[in-house]
Amino acid sequence: MEQVYLNGAFLPKGEARIPVDDRGFLFGDGVYEVTPFYGGVPFRLPRHLARMRRGLAALQIPIEAQGLEALEALHEEILVRNGLEGAEMAIVYLQVTRGAAPRTHHFPDPAPAPTVYAYARAFQRPSGEEWEKGFGAITVPDLRWARADLKTVQLLPNVMAQQAARAAGVADALLVRDGLALEGAHSNLCVVFGDRVVTHPLSNQVLPGITREAVLEAARARGIPVEERPIPMTELPDATEVFFTGTTTEVRPTVQVDGKPVGDGKVGPVTREIQEGFLELVARECWVEHPVGAGAR
Ligand code: PDD
Repeated sequence: MEQVYLNGAFLPKGEARIPVDDRGFLFGDGVYEVTPFYGGVPFRLPRHLARMRRGLAALQIPIEAQGLEALEALHEEILVRNGLEGAEMAIVYLQVTRGAAPRTHHFPDPAPAPTVYAYARAFQRPSGEEWEKGFGAITVPDLRWARADLKTVQLLPNVMAQQAARAAGVADALLVRDGLALEGAHSNLCVVFGDRVVTHPLSNQVLPGITREAVLEAARARGIPVEERPIPMTELPDATEVFFTGTTTEVRPTVQVDGKPVGDGKVGPVTREIQEGFLELVARECWVEHPVGAGAR
């Protein structure tokens, strides 16, 4: 039976309960992380935890230093308790909310104990054929708040955008604000112009993706020029390739946007090279075998 973690204890998921006063439930007052595991080894867990720490500090959710340390150990433990230590790919979801207290907009005083919840599940990437075919995206207005750099559980605009993509029969929603192509509903965006990879710079408008960071590192290591600058939608028709990056997305080639082909409408060479480089990083850091050759997974 699936075991989850809630406030210091592991228990069957069906027995986990949170109070109706939990501020995560009432206000979306909390942050979360999704960390990938390859062959039971986390990929860049310290980076994920650092992002969570930054989010907790920004929301002024008090959590003790020991509490944060415990969160690291909890990742391995929840994986093992669910028999996923040998899984080719798995994710651990971790959420921390401000805790439960009678509803007031301002922070409760005294501060309640934060609610800490985690679960693990196996994760599968698309088949090699699906990846080779590439994926579609639609553009959607970005309706999120002005702190998209914080990984808060207030995800309704992301949910609505992803549902619009699903209804349109495509994999991703590309969020557009002020005429700029920012990121996906749950992934970062890279646009390729010839041999250059371009992505929106880190700012309050995009999530500082851990996969984005790894992908840019892989690109630079392979001598692929990288530019971090805003991408006006007016430049999109000149894009030769587009791909999204994320923990559950890895490197996902986008071959059409709003029904129009990107470049020649096929998965391009830069995306393949980046994919290869990213999988190499995963292989090196998680001691797993390189899954398959570029673009052929
Ligand atoms: N989403 N941008 C947004 C809006 C995201 O929600 C995510 C991740 C990313 C990529 O971040 P990373 O590479 O660190 O996963 C970018 C997670 C996976 C989710 O909501 O399930």
